[in-house]
Amino acid sequence: MSAVGQPITRLEGRLKVTGGAQYTADVPLTGALHGAIVHSPIANGRTISIDTTAAERAPGVVAVFTYRNMPRIKPIQKPWVHLHPYGQSYLVLQDDQIHYAGQPVALVVADRLDQAAYAGTLITVQYEVKPPVVFNAETARGAFDPPQFLWPVNSSVGNPAKGLTDGAVRIERVYTTADRHHNQMEPHATMSNWDASGHLTIFEACQGVFALRDFVSIALEIPPEKVTVISRYVGGGFGGKAYVWPHTLLAIVAARVIRRPVRIQLTRAQMYSMVGHQPATIQTITLAADKTGKLTGIRHDSVSPTSVFDDYIEYAANASRSLWGASGGISTGHKILHTNRNTPTVMRAPHEALGHVATEIAMDELAYAVGVDPVALRLLNDTLVDPYTGRPFSTRAMRRCLTEGAQRFGWNARNPVPRSMRDGRYLIGQGVAGGIYTHWRWPSKARVVLRSDGSALVESGMQEIGCGTYTVMRQVAADALGLRADKVDVHLGDTRLPASHSAIGSTTMSNAGAGVLLAANAVRDKAIALALTGHDAPFGGATANNVLAVNEGLALGDQTITYSDLLARNRLKVLIGDGNYDPVEEAKGPTAIFSFSALFAEVQVDEELGLVRLSRFVGAYDAGRIINPRTARSQAIGGIIWGVGQALLEQSETDPVMGRFLHRNYSGYLVPTNADIPELEVIFAGEFDPEASPLGTKGMGELTAVAVAPAIVNAVYHATGKRIRDLPVTVEKLWSTTTQSNASKS
Ligand code: MOS
Repeated sequence: MSAVGQPITRLEGRLKVTGGAQYTADVPLTGALHGAIVHSPIANGRTISIDTTAAERAPGVVAVFTYRNMPRIKPIQKPWVHLHPYGQSYLVLQDDQIHYAGQPVALVVADRLDQAAYAGTLITVQYEVKPPVVFNAETARGAFDPPQFLWPVNSSVGNPAKGLTDGAVRIERVYTTADRHHNQMEPHATMSNWDASGHLTIFEACQGVFALRDFVSIALEIPPEKVTVISRYVGGGFGGKAYVWPHTLLAIVAARVIRRPVRIQLTRAQMYSMVGHQPATIQTITLAADKTGKLTGIRHDSVSPTSVFDDYIEYAANASRSLWGASGGISTGHKILHTNRNTPTVMRAPHEALGHVATEIAMDELAYAVGVDPVALRLLNDTLVDPYTGRPFSTRAMRRCLTEGAQRFGWNARNPVPRSMRDGRYLIGQGVAGGIYTHWRWPSKARVVLRSDGSALVESGMQEIGCGTYTVMRQVAADALGLRADKVDVHLGDTRLPASHSAIGSTTMSNAGAGVLLAANAVRDKAIALALTGHDAPFGGATANNVLAVNEGLALGDQTITYSDLLARNRLKVLIGDGNYDPVEEAKGPTAIFSFSALFAEVQVDEELGLVRLSRFVGAYDAGRIINPRTARSQAIGGIIWGVGQALLEQSETDPVMGRFLHRNYSGYLVPTNADIPELEVIFAGEFDPEASPLGTKGMGELTAVAVAPAIVNAVYHATGKRIRDLPVTVEKLWSTTTQSNASKS
């Protein structure tokens, strides 16, 4: 039985639930010191004086660093790029300037963590305070066109202006989303150790060991071979651990100065200011359609805040570039505003999950304005050609997602009239949204070692961030070699292994997995060659094409040989295959590759209390071929829950005077918990996509976090007749919003 397609359980599951898995802060290292960061309460200004005398004398303190004695670090090259993965370009403890609340002003290093933290409280800082620039509807008017860092900032296809005026029905709306934080269970942690030869080993809670290594090599001007990064288990990444943040550099430099290992783990509160976050968006969208609902034009613009020193763009309007066709044309644009905050970053699913709020709520508003069913409206505007590039989609099962999802959900039984469905005291609402997610293609290397006991080992410097990476890589190698999955070990998260890409952009299965597939195929081919021409060759004279890898070895017709026998006959301890997957950049390929979804949400609204509760959810996904239905389903469930947070709970409010994030713990920042989530239904409607990956897979993880929020918001409208255009949909917004008419017919 083929290992791929089986719902096997996590290779490392037992280790994790029994506490055996060592996360970064658990790694024991003899002689390691602990760092505690002291940070600024003000968001703009400078430090006038920093008195560290008492801290330096406190018990256990080994060193106190401020900008005065911290070694200078080479300035970070801008702009921000994937190969230069610094979370923010501003280097801390290098000058007296304060650009954001929570900016480090001192680092205390002591024998114990409590000693470092206590000594930190003894430091007194005087500030010169300037009023901070914060992001809101007023200041957003000063936003500007930023330089490109991922996709083009603005786009225009066809004649969008004409398309918008040609429409018989037009929806023109502003939707806003809140600042949000990643809130991983595992706080960021880092530990640096320089050995006597000048070799640096970093243990890091990160999403890409090679990205960190390469960045450190550039920033500290040391050859990459002199840096080892290890990160075997990560307790939640969500994009927050994709790039390198200041505390990591502080630990590295402090360890070099002190000549002892230094460990820094951010406090829960520091998780809101020392690493990135998802910036708020203000999105303006115009949809125009003929009177049947066929789109004639789309215009989508988004404004988001960034730090004063970086031009991070949240590409929200991208969602409208390729999701639906529009006969006249589509235009999109992005602007940013420099504010006193740390640099925002990617957060699951960056760009798309925000943009779909505008696109897919506006589509619902259009459906009501035209008087067509929201599922039918989407089927009507489905397209097999990417409107943005004009290339055909490699595969696009949007139609299947919509129809199979609607059937499973029982959409046909829905009465389209708002406030028409009830269950006792609850108003019932049902909403739908479609989703699209980018397919990134990055190179990845892997090695597969076949061992004399007939087992195999996969080695690659990719990352397990909780998604099941160890498990699916085991399946890929087992499948290629004809082994049982439990005969394959997997080593990841270490720069001493073959170079791979970061676990970002939902790319691991398709790209890093392709590297493993190629390596496994290579070692299988070596084994076949031995079986044909090696010592005491069992299949001598046969052709390679007729040999199959099955049942823990090779087979030619009814002749078989196990790998252990084959290696023994050739006196080999191991047989090694290397994989080097180097895909064409997606943008340069013949087809447009995206994954897709159609999501169906049902909510119960208690109008008296203003409470919204998700009661049912069906997600139908086209992520290509599914390697492991269990881990894939877990991805989907995680994405839906993540979207429930976006729709109903999550927001990091900013103090408008102090310019700092207000909620800095799990009691102030709300996320969904078990009681918020009903049974969730997941359907996989995709097929093998050979353009996307040799494995036939497309991006899955972040796809599942896209379009959940608009489906829920649309359901809230259906339940209540109230159209909330500002996320999250909180009690006070439901109370203060009156029942509205939807249409603005032109
Ligand atoms: Mo994901 S936000 O690309 O780590």
